Amino acid sequence: MPKVVVVYLSTSGNTKAMADAIVEGAVSRNVDALAMNFHEAKIEELKSADAIAIGSSTFYYKMLPPMEKFIESLAKANVKAKVGAAFGSYGWSGEAPGMIAEKMREIGIKVIDPVLRVQYAPAEKDIEECRRLGKDIANKIKPAR
Ligand SMILES: Cc1cc2nc3c(=O)[nH]c(=O)nc-3n(C[C@H](O)[C@H](O)[C@H](O)COP(=O)(O)O)c2cc1C
Repeated sequence: MPKVVVVYLSTSGNTKAMADAIVEGAVSRNVDALAMNFHEAKIEELKSADAIAIGSSTFYYKMLPPMEKFIESLAKANVKAKVGAAFGSYGWSGEAPGMIAEKMREIGIKVIDPVLRVQYAPAEKDIEECRRLGKDIANKIKPAR
């Protein structure tokens, strides 16, 4: 089964809620999907992924440095997924998802445009958008029938 891996950094659960909804959306399209905190993300898991979604909230106008390092480690491990997506919760400026997309493109992952950003805690309509993104990702990696 095609597989989506969603990796997130979330300090108070907002970006995690987005990640969980992306997984829900993907699963509803009958692909394998799981969400992992970037601390526990295993490179092997990512190597076997057909799509990778990466999310981070914005701190001091960027993503937190450990997330940046994590994305760089993907490049070193030669992780290449067919499809990518970037997302994250933010407060007022929200740079992190755009920066994630840029880094993913640098390592050769084709990232869905536009990135998905939600201000603070996702409301039901935001969760629905996250599910929609999960479905879009799944549709892109499902074999044509
Ligand atoms: C110390 C600190 C710095 C922050 N800096 C920014 C920032 O520069 N731009 C922004 O849009 N939001 C900023 N925020 C807001 C967070 O991105 C926002 O609270 C987000 O919902 C947190 O999501 P999370 O629970 O997934 O970490 C900051 C929050 C804190 C606590």
